[in-house]
Amino acid sequence: MKLANIKREWWKEAIVYQIYPRSFQDSNGDGVGDLRGIIQRLDYIASLGIQVVWLNPIYSSPNDDNGYDISDYRNIMSEFGTMADFEELLAGFHARGIKVVMDLVVNHTSSEHEWFKQSRSSRDNPYRDYYHWWPAEKGTPPRRWSYFDEEANAWRYDEQTDAYYLHYFARKQPDLNWENPKLRAEIYDMMHYWFKKGIDGFRMDVITFISKHTDWPDFGDENQGSIMIDRYAEGPRLHEYLHEMNREVLQHYDIMTVAEGPGTHTHNVLALVDEDRQELNMNYHFDHQGIGVGERFIINDDFQNLVKFKKVMSDWDKALSTKGWNTVYFGNHDFPRMVSRWGNDEPQWRELSSKLLTTYLLAMRGTPYYYMGDEIGMSNIKFDNIEDYKDLMTINWYHLTKEEGGDLEKFIESHKLCARDNARTPVQWDNSMHAGFTTGEPWIKVCPNYMQVNVAAQENVPNSVLNYFRKMTALRSNNLTLIYGSYQLLLPNHEQLYVFERQLDDETLLVALNFSSETASFEYDIKASSQLEVLIDNYNDLTLGESRIALKGWQAVVLRV
Ligand code: NOJ
Repeated sequence: MKLANIKREWWKEAIVYQIYPRSFQDSNGDGVGDLRGIIQRLDYIASLGIQVVWLNPIYSSPNDDNGYDISDYRNIMSEFGTMADFEELLAGFHARGIKVVMDLVVNHTSSEHEWFKQSRSSRDNPYRDYYHWWPAEKGTPPRRWSYFDEEANAWRYDEQTDAYYLHYFARKQPDLNWENPKLRAEIYDMMHYWFKKGIDGFRMDVITFISKHTDWPDFGDENQGSIMIDRYAEGPRLHEYLHEMNREVLQHYDIMTVAEGPGTHTHNVLALVDEDRQELNMNYHFDHQGIGVGERFIINDDFQNLVKFKKVMSDWDKALSTKGWNTVYFGNHDFPRMVSRWGNDEPQWRELSSKLLTTYLLAMRGTPYYYMGDEIGMSNIKFDNIEDYKDLMTINWYHLTKEEGGDLEKFIESHKLCARDNARTPVQWDNSMHAGFTTGEPWIKVCPNYMQVNVAAQENVPNSVLNYFRKMTALRSNNLTLIYGSYQLLLPNHEQLYVFERQLDDETLLVALNFSSETASFEYDIKASSQLEVLIDNYNDLTLGESRIALKGWQAVVLRV
């Protein structure tokens, strides 16, 4: 790979750090994180060596789905603060050289959005066509599966106008009707509003779902979850809308865009992110998250299958190796803590495996999206009781399973590993009450390991998980091979080791990771290397033979070879 042939972009070279504001830092003692809390932590965020922050939704919302149900796109959620707080926060990030990406949630609104209130009020209201309605005189609408509905039914009957409205997510999250050009114009206008305030991009929530098959074909009653998701992402006008959005809004600013892409796979991703198509810059997929996880997040034996994981990640790299640009991530607010999902969160291995996962994310090709708290090795809280959960998805799935007479014990055990609330527990700042997150009662429980696992305890320990993250961000940011170099997987079938090379111009880097607690070694012609140098090693004691490299449990190294 030659640097001269690569189109360099700031968003390809950036490390994105995701903040879930509700759980980051509370400043006013109400138990809910807020914008002034983030302002208090700006220097900490800057110290991480990241270049972009993605903020989960901070707009006005009744919070049925923690801000993914927006009631006013141009205002700040009262629990989070005010527009003045937001402007101060944005200026604070920019002053530190950090760009800010916001969440764009335009597949649906809250049912408390003024558009929906108008829309549901009468069949001839001017806002009626802002949403999808099915008049009851036509009978029951064709079955559509819903992620969050109590009955998994995406059509909800509304008495007021004797019609059903569509909601792929919760009942209080009606889907917008993108067929309507007036609605699209309103959305583009709202996007201009935020860009004019100075934000640097959008992460686009379930953007692959915005175009519906409005002839409402029969998708089959039995189809749930993953099958429906693929159908939802095949809407006939998706690319037309995104191209239009690009023309009307995106192309006018120096910004980045990333699709949250349920239903994207290696065979269809280029339709979204091939630069010649002028739609979006990047996409993130769920193919690795789905390994070993079935419907309603019930896990199976493949949960940590490394061979499958390597294949998925390598296929995705290949799909975007000459056109488009990839993303890599483990954790976010919808998935478990990375160390509990892909590492080993037992006390003996938690730190080492967290460091290994950090090494992986920051050594892959593609923009890394790194989730708050992972930099200190936070792990899943693993609730024993359904009463502890706050997430409507887990709660509704639990009740559905119960009504069906399903295995509730298995459900609880699987959700200890997979539930979204595992990632939503407050960031652990220190060992004071509630981990320094709030002086009040936190909206969700703090993970009890905060006495050991917290920022303050790691800040001045050179070898801590936190300082390892900082070393790794510096390594990536100063090494174009880690950003742009080609990716070559070695040992695809090895069940413990993930080994790959990155190569740019005359530099080759070897990344070797032992995804297991047992020592493992592999053949590698070390003596052929002219410029051998260990760039990072989470043990600092790498064993190199002349033609073999041995890695201890969860050891991670990056070598210049
Ligand atoms: C994806 C978001 O990441 C998730 O948190 C949310 O519940 C759904 N989209 C619905 O907006």
